[in-house]
Amino acid sequence: MASSYLLCFSTITIWFILCAKHVSSQTCWRDTPCSDIITAAFPGEWEADIFAPASRTISPATIFDLSTGEEVGSWPTTFTLASNQSEVYLDFGKEVGSIVTLQYEVSSVNGAGAIGLAFTEAKNWVGWDSDFSNGDYSRPDGAIYGNFSSAGNYTYVMPDENLRGGFCYMTLFLVGDAASATITNVNLELSFQPTWSNLQAYQGYFHSNDDLLNQIWYSGAYTLQVDAIHPLTGRAWPLPDEAWLNTGELGPGDTINTDGAKRDRTVWPGDMAVAIPAAFYSTDGIE
Ligand SMILES: *[C@@H]1O[C@H](CO)[C@@H](O)[C@H](O)[C@H]1NC(C)=O
Ligand SMILES: *[C@@H]1O[C@H](CO)[C@@H](O)[C@H](O)[C@H]1NC(C)=O
Ligand SMILES: *[C@@H]1O[C@H](CO)[C@@H](O)[C@H](O)[C@H]1NC(C)=O
Repeated sequence: MASSYLLCFSTITIWFILCAKHVSSQTCWRDTPCSDIITAAFPGEWEADIFAPASRTISPATIFDLSTGEEVGSWPTTFTLASNQSEVYLDFGKEVGSIVTLQYEVSSVNGAGAIGLAFTEAKNWVGWDSDFSNGDYSRPDGAIYGNFSSAGNYTYVMPDENLRGGFCYMTLFLVGDAASATITNVNLELSFQPTWSNLQAYQGYFHSNDDLLNQIWYSGAYTLQVDAIHPLTGRAWPLPDEAWLNTGELGPGDTINTDGAKRDRTVWPGDMAVAIPAAFYSTDGIE
């Protein structure tokens, strides 16, 4: 009896391992149940136009010096920040969003120090302040900080409440007396289209003999996708005293279509009149 249980158990284990292997690089957002959509409905050359990445965990593409705008390196690499100097911004190459994890090694600091993280959608706004998203237009969103007070290796995971819905650029800067820190790893866990294990599994397609038009279509489709968010990650109201707060409850279900990935992360019925038919034709990522 015991051995047959064991056999059954190991068969199930193997089955799980095989299934897990099959979707190894692709998962749904945290514990959101996955939908049945796992592959593109119309495979073809147009899939090359899809902006959505193949994996939910991504890294930046290029690193630039904040003060000069010069390229410092491309990913993967490591780079060192010193207090009030050598600030950088990381270019993800497209609109992305969600939870950032930063690993860094502090080699020196005198007292309290911190690495600041600030986010913008447009390059002309990169700097110590994130662009507006929280609904209070009297102040920018500011920055969030990974704090430290001694040398050592650190991992900073952005708190869930500070989930950053939409950005292309992330600025990193160091504050603290005589501080120096080397960034050893950066990654981003995408939260949009939370029930899809494969973010490229579009259920519609578009293709013409005009490459620009094809890209315009697919950038629209991707915009709809980044606006399709988990209902517990909307903009919270009333707004917080500092930074931003994306723990707002928007409604039922596992996905909700909003007006924007960064701002407002809110359902506006007027926007939906345009967005929903377009989403049906492009991704069909509608619940
Ligand atoms: C570092 O820069 C910040 C912001 O510009 C400024 O408030 C602070 O005084 C500077 N600190 C030092 C040590 O230069
Ligand atoms: C972290 O560092 C920032 C910037 O120096 C500071 O404003 C904030 O109070 C610090 N937070 C904690 C918990 O020490
Ligand atoms: C950080 O970790 C690396 C690798 O384990 C180690 O060599 C290094 O000494 C650590 N740095 C500090 C400041 O503890």
